[in-house]
Amino acid sequence: MADTTLMDKLVSLSKRRGFIFQSSEIYGGLGSVWDYGPLGVELKKNVKDRWWHAMVHAREDIEGLDAAILMHPKVWEASGHVAGFTDPLVDCRHCKNRFRADDPRIKGTPGQPDAQCPVCGSKGTLTEPRLFNLMFKTFMGPVEDQAAIVYLRPETAQGIYVNYLNVLNSSRQKVPFGIAQIGKAFRNEITPGNFIFRTREFEQMEMQFFVKPGTDVEWFERWRAWRMEWCQELGLTAAKLRFHQHGPDELAHYAKAAFDIQYEFPFGWQEIEGVHNRTDFDLGRHQQYSGKKLEYFDQAANERYIPYIVETSAGADRVTLTVMVDAYREEAVEGETRVVLGFHPALAPIKAGVFPLVKKDGMPELATEVYHGLKRRFPVFYDDSGAIGRRYRRMDEAGTPFCVTIDGETVANRTVTVRYRDSMAQDRVGLDQLEAYLRERLTA
Ligand code: GAP
Repeated sequence: MADTTLMDKLVSLSKRRGFIFQSSEIYGGLGSVWDYGPLGVELKKNVKDRWWHAMVHAREDIEGLDAAILMHPKVWEASGHVAGFTDPLVDCRHCKNRFRADDPRIKGTPGQPDAQCPVCGSKGTLTEPRLFNLMFKTFMGPVEDQAAIVYLRPETAQGIYVNYLNVLNSSRQKVPFGIAQIGKAFRNEITPGNFIFRTREFEQMEMQFFVKPGTDVEWFERWRAWRMEWCQELGLTAAKLRFHQHGPDELAHYAKAAFDIQYEFPFGWQEIEGVHNRTDFDLGRHQQYSGKKLEYFDQAANERYIPYIVETSAGADRVTLTVMVDAYREEAVEGETRVVLGFHPALAPIKAGVFPLVKKDGMPELATEVYHGLKRRFPVFYDDSGAIGRRYRRMDEAGTPFCVTIDGETVANRTVTVRYRDSMAQDRVGLDQLEAYLRERLTA
C-alpha cells in the first residue's frame, strides 16, 4: 500500500464512519481545523481517559487542573511566547502568497533576485524573511485596541505554572510532585496538514513535574521511560516508536534537554510527545514578571528554592491519529477486502455490536434485551440491517472488538455467539455469562 494512500483512506474512512469531519464543511471547510464525529469523540476521549488515569488517578504525586484558555497577556511575555514563538515567513510580492522561509519548494534565497515563488513561479519577488508570531490574538471587553489584546493559549503548560502554588497549598503535596492538565491549545500554524497531525486548534495532555534542582536529570530520565511505556501500552507497534534527542539547534528557549517520542507515520518519523527539562526558566520568569514569590519552602531541609520542571507534553489529536494509523489494516477474506481498525479494546469507541441473525422468530426481541443489558455497562451498537457478514464488516471498520449474535440457538438455550474482530473466531457464551465474558476481555 502506497504510504500517501493510507492517509487518504483514513480521511475517507473517518468521514464515512463518523470519526472525523472537516470543520464547517458546508462552507468549504476551515483550514486545518477538524471536528470529531460520534466514533471519533469516543476514541479521543478514551485516549484522554487513559492518559488521565495513568497520570492522575494511578499516582499519588500528581494533581489535576483545568485552567482557562484565556490568560493575562503578561503570561505570554513572561513565557517568551510574545517575543519568541515565531516562524520566519516570506511573501511573494506578485501573487501575495505567504510561505515559511524554509519551505523546501522555494528555489534560491528569499530576498535575493534568484529566489523563485513556488506558487506563481515569479523570480525575485520573494521578500526577506520576517518573523511571524504563531499565537492567535483576540480582544477582551468592548474596546478592540492594543490594551485589550488577549491570546488563545498556544500551550496548556502556562496555566499550570501560574497555579502551581495554589495547587501546592490546597492539595498539601510536597516537591517532588506534578500537575496534569488536558485542554485546547491554538497555533496559527503556517504549514499545517497531514489530517489531524498538525492543526490550528488541538488538545494537549501536559504534565509538569516540580522537582528539587539537582534531581531534575534523574526525574527527566524516569519520565522519558514512563511516557514511552504508556505509548506502548496503547497497543502501538513497538518498532514504530523511537526517541529523538533534540540537538542544541532544536532545543526550545526554555529547555535544557528534550526528547521527542516519535512514531513512524506514512509521511515519516514524527513527534507525538515531548519530554522536556524546563529547569527553573518558567517559574523564574513568572516570579520576575508578576513580582510574586514562587519559591518552594522545603521544611525538612529548611531550604527555599524555585523548583525545576520536567514536562511531558503530548497532543491528544496526534496520539488519536497515531492510534488510527497503527490500527488500520486491510485483509483479503473470501475474495473481498476486509478493512479493520484493530484498536486496543480499551480505546475502541464501540465495545460490542449486537445483532439478531434474522428479523424474526423472537430474535430481534431477545437481541434488544441483550443490547439494553450491555448498554448500561459499555458503549454497544445494535444493528439488524443487511447480511450478517456486512454487519461484521461495518463493525471491523469501526474497530469494534466483539460482535454478539443472537440466533436460533439463543432462543432455544440462551447462548450467543461472540465473534472476535481480529481472528474472526467465534465462541459460544451463555447469556448469563456474557457481561463478565466481555468485561474480562475488554480490560485485559
Ligand atoms: N508545552 C510544550 C509544548 O507545547 P510542543 O512540542 O510545542 O511542546 C507538544 O507540543 C505536543 O503537542 C506535540 O508533541 C504534539 O503532540 C502536540 N502539538 C503541537 N503542535 C500541534 C499542532 N499544531 N497540531 C496538533 N498537535 C500539536
